[in-house]
Amino acid sequence: MRVLVIGNGGREDAICKKISESKKLTKLYCSEGNAGTLRYAENVKLKSNDEILDFAEKNNINLVIVGPEVPLCEGIKDKFDNTNIKVFGADKESAKLEGSKDFAKEFMLKYNIPTAKYETVTSKSEGEKVIKHFTYPLVIKADGLCAGKGVKICQNELEAKEYLKELFEEKIFGQEGTTAVIEEFLEGKEASLLCFVSDGNLIPMESARDYKRIYDGDKGENTGGVGCYSPNELFNEDLKKSIKPVLEKISYGLKQENLAYSGILFIGFMIKNNEPKILEFNVRFGDPETEVVLPRMESDLIDVIEKSIEGTLKAEDLIWKKDKCMTVILTSKGYPLKYEKGKEISGIENVDEDIYVYHNNTEFKNNKILSAGGRVLSVTALGSDFEEMRKRIYKNIEKINFENKTFRKDIGIIK
Ligand code: AMP
Ligand code: GLY
Repeated sequence: MRVLVIGNGGREDAICKKISESKKLTKLYCSEGNAGTLRYAENVKLKSNDEILDFAEKNNINLVIVGPEVPLCEGIKDKFDNTNIKVFGADKESAKLEGSKDFAKEFMLKYNIPTAKYETVTSKSEGEKVIKHFTYPLVIKADGLCAGKGVKICQNELEAKEYLKELFEEKIFGQEGTTAVIEEFLEGKEASLLCFVSDGNLIPMESARDYKRIYDGDKGENTGGVGCYSPNELFNEDLKKSIKPVLEKISYGLKQENLAYSGILFIGFMIKNNEPKILEFNVRFGDPETEVVLPRMESDLIDVIEKSIEGTLKAEDLIWKKDKCMTVILTSKGYPLKYEKGKEISGIENVDEDIYVYHNNTEFKNNKILSAGGRVLSVTALGSDFEEMRKRIYKNIEKINFENKTFRKDIGIIK
């Protein structure tokens, strides 16, 4: 099997590593990959969905695995419709579950899927009327992908009006921000659940806990995620029981709406008193969730993906190790705002054998590994005890160096 993975983050590094362990693999490419994926894949630079299709056809690729949301929302799956190359990922219409907040909320409302109460607005004046129906804090979400930066939690009317002005008058997200969802603020704890989708059926993976804020104590700006562990302790038997009917409703809705795709559905939950409510859908693996979920998977990932695409994947096809997994992300100073890049990284080769370092944003240039983005490396451990793993990770972080290396010190400590 000749496989092409699309993306260049820690998620794709983890996907490439897991795919490289498959007995079915004969050749692995990654576009555009990073210094980490070079360990098991040939990196290629394909700049558009058209270039990906062309490369896949010329290089006899059998399976394309799509990491990020942008190519999915742009319709990469649909581009391959008239070929016999398999694509693992949502089609353009289904990808709206991530690409449009309004589409996702309407879907949840229609199929009685628990989520925050909301109203959709398309102008500043409409928004100013609708905010009066809510108490504070309230949440305003620009409708489009907005590079993951479209959500604002507003503490008072002044902040809400200011954000409506930014969206509708200043158009900070261009056309993507010209529709917005205004929703009630949900209290509780967040949990991520990644599911394989197999012809609309949801087969959940193990749960994860993502640390989204940049500073210790869950303070500061929201990021893509700067630490993570799996499983998430919130997923007790009671919670699993209350999530089961939610997954069934999603699956029913996907089939009713002709969204019965094969790929990934990432469900962001807010949990309070074992009651799950859905914050968001993503139609891709999470990052850093993938770096802690895939190392725990025993099953052959190519097998699982093939079954998912055939529509035959069952829960029993997913076999999990007993080990838990934790990762701490080393970031560039300044992330998630303006950050530094191009710093030489040393010491990855010195980490202990039972530590794995995924690359989030690195490049290999002139025989050096350089930082190339906000999140740089994910220092990851498997084990039976989170406390022991945490100590092992932090001890090994000391061995890796780049100028102004930044990381949270409390991953796994605060729950
Ligand atoms: P989203 O992209 O919709 O998941 O929003 C990004 C982040 O904003 C989430 O991970 C939460 O931390 C926060 N958030 C979004 N919606 C809500 C809500 N209704 N109540 C509380 N926090 C929220
Ligand atoms: N870690 C959250 C995400 O991948 O969107």
